[in-house]
Amino acid sequence: MKSLYLRIMAPNSARRLACTTFTGTALLTALILCGCGGGSTGSPSSPSGPSNPSTPTTTLRQLASPHDILIGAAADSQYLSESNYANVLGTEFSQLQAENEMKFGLIHPQQGTYDFSGGDALVSFAQAHNMMVRGHTLVWHEEVPDWVTNGGFAATDLSNILQDHINTVMGHYAGKVYAWDVVNEAFQDDGTMRDTIWYDQPGIGFAGQGPKYIEQALQWAHAADPAAKLFYNDYNDETVNAKSDAIYAMAQDFKSHGVPLDGIGFQTHVDLSFDNPTTLASYASNLQRFADLGLDVHITELDIRLSDDSTASLNAEAKLYGELMTMCVQQPRCKVFQTWGFTDKYSWIPGTFPGWGWALPFDDNYQKKPAYTAISNALSQ
Ligand code: XIL
Repeated sequence: MKSLYLRIMAPNSARRLACTTFTGTALLTALILCGCGGGSTGSPSSPSGPSNPSTPTTTLRQLASPHDILIGAAADSQYLSESNYANVLGTEFSQLQAENEMKFGLIHPQQGTYDFSGGDALVSFAQAHNMMVRGHTLVWHEEVPDWVTNGGFAATDLSNILQDHINTVMGHYAGKVYAWDVVNEAFQDDGTMRDTIWYDQPGIGFAGQGPKYIEQALQWAHAADPAAKLFYNDYNDETVNAKSDAIYAMAQDFKSHGVPLDGIGFQTHVDLSFDNPTTLASYASNLQRFADLGLDVHITELDIRLSDDSTASLNAEAKLYGELMTMCVQQPRCKVFQTWGFTDKYSWIPGTFPGWGWALPFDDNYQKKPAYTAISNALSQ
């Protein structure tokens, strides 16, 4: 028991909460019963934890709890009936996010028609396994249904449609989804605004006004569920670059005049070229500047794609997974470490990046890969 205590209490003392008052079996009992590592997100304890206190706690969610980090996975309800899928998801992870089923096109397929079936199935699963649910996503240029794109709507119509969408979806999940990617991928890599139906084609009334439409979406989201944490989420914003500079300028502006923005999501869809000291240092300092604004930083869609599954590649992948986990552990505002899926069996990578794959911590037979061990080790240091 002493070694358990030392292992889970040693790292990152700044993040430790009331757990410090517990010792030995009392600590373990407290972790299991009250979710001690939850912090401000109210993150769950580990219901899968041992009933016998001498059993080692080894799942990722258990190791992450004292760091106040949620270990997330994107999931799809169609796979929940597969026992291996459900077992791994429900034991290793403390957060679930719908990979697709809360996106506009699936959840609001026709005007006036909402389909919450997939999202509700995921929420039920999460609740049954004491997992937090993160919502994804309300305002995005992709997966917009035909009735919106081909509707010939003017800006005022689109404004009403989007506000209704945000109200209805967030209202439905109020109290069940603790955080939302309100706006996804609104910037281009050069830092300019992406031309989208919501921004300027024709937009919701703020065309040419930069991030003003993002501010409007955040205000609507806050009104729809004042308790939800609200995020801006993007890819290629991990390091300090033109895109993250633009997001930073937006966040700084929003924080200076009270726009309800709680954090930034960093998708982190990367390959092994990401594993170099300059890039990793840049990622850490980028997270720090957002943290310094008082924002939470979430790693939201991590996967590390490989072009082969050689031992060398899998070990290199593991090394980078471990480094990113360590970076999150070392950043007190990094509250979520989430992979985009968890098994290579259902990763989006092969379909989107032909010739690439093997991007997640579990292989396509649900076996733990070296990447899993590296994440576990990083959490155990
Ligand atoms: C992807 C899903 O993984 C795929 O299943 C789907 O076909 C397309 O969308 N950035 C995002 C995610 O914010 O919503 C995307 O998810 C991956 C890139």
